[in-house]
Amino acid sequence: MTTQNMKPIRTIEAVTLQAFLTRMVDGGALPASLAELVIAVSDGCASIAKAVEHGPLSTADAYLGEANVHGETQKQLDVVSNDIMVRAVERVPCLAGWVSEEIEDAQWSKNAPDPGSPTYLLLFDPLDGSSNLEVNSMVGSIFSVLTLPQGGPRDDPRHFLQPGTRQVCAGYALYGATTMFVVTTGNGVDGFSYDEGAGAFVLTHPQLRIPLDYNEFAINMSNQRFWETPVKRYVRECVEGASGVRAANFNMRWIASMVAEVHRILIRGGVFLYPRDSRNPQLAGRLRLMYEANPMSFIVEQAGGGSTTGTQRMLEVEPAQIHQRVPVILGSKQEVERIAHYHAKQSTSSVPACGS
Ligand code: F6P
Repeated sequence: MTTQNMKPIRTIEAVTLQAFLTRMVDGGALPASLAELVIAVSDGCASIAKAVEHGPLSTADAYLGEANVHGETQKQLDVVSNDIMVRAVERVPCLAGWVSEEIEDAQWSKNAPDPGSPTYLLLFDPLDGSSNLEVNSMVGSIFSVLTLPQGGPRDDPRHFLQPGTRQVCAGYALYGATTMFVVTTGNGVDGFSYDEGAGAFVLTHPQLRIPLDYNEFAINMSNQRFWETPVKRYVRECVEGASGVRAANFNMRWIASMVAEVHRILIRGGVFLYPRDSRNPQLAGRLRLMYEANPMSFIVEQAGGGSTTGTQRMLEVEPAQIHQRVPVILGSKQEVERIAHYHAKQSTSSVPACGS
């Protein structure tokens, strides 16, 4: 085939993340300081993508780990990714402090804030799904931005304990076949793909909308015996397929990386569940509210989907602790509403309340 016949599959308007955010700042839709923070986070993600890509080539111990502050295996690349993100953002003048899955306590910047311009708090999971690393499967980073409340001591860790409705920005990077950066500042959700040649994220997925219904669910089925009744019912009805009450066949996916699952849902719909279960009754769920569930729920809602704990809209959960866990059910609106309805029906007939 001659090059003349080789037409591009799709023409992409080369709008970089930087240009996209500058346009929003110029239009008054975004403070310049927040745009600067988002760019710094995206730079951190581009560097984490490189570290993930090099994997065992960068350090022989990349996939080895020891228990982190939560007793989970923390791999060398988790620590490296955390350091990369901290280095990328710590000098951004509007950043007052940050919290990461890999660090127990809130960290505070030494920057002198710019008077008159808003000051932010960043919460992030530098490398989500890191058990996928040694099998060369998908991982990602997740982040959430809150505004530093006015008054009182600047470095009070309670400043981070704000419900998800107060997020001013949230996003994730997916280190898959293409490195992507997906972000919302409350004006819909836009997706950018990393252009290696340009060294920049370029807008490829403007204004993502989650399809209302797509018959696909994602859940770790091996925990089935520990789930609560409403989740058992929902999954049973999906599995019954065309001959059951749903009168439709369902597909199932489980990548074991929340970023990858949410990305799939943004592209083609479906529902993701990591529900409360009875394996460890002290824990409300597996996933973290502040830097996993809240940012993903903000994105999903901005893309027209829904997100709940089962009994409450995720973004309205009042946090009590920085690292608290929560049950997560998110995705296509109708499916999420159906599962919330099953929980509501159960709570009118009995059921213990959902603790933290
Ligand atoms: O952060 C936790 C996480 O890795 C998520 O990305 C993912 O959805 C989940 O854990 C996978 O959990 P499990 O190993 O129990 O399937």
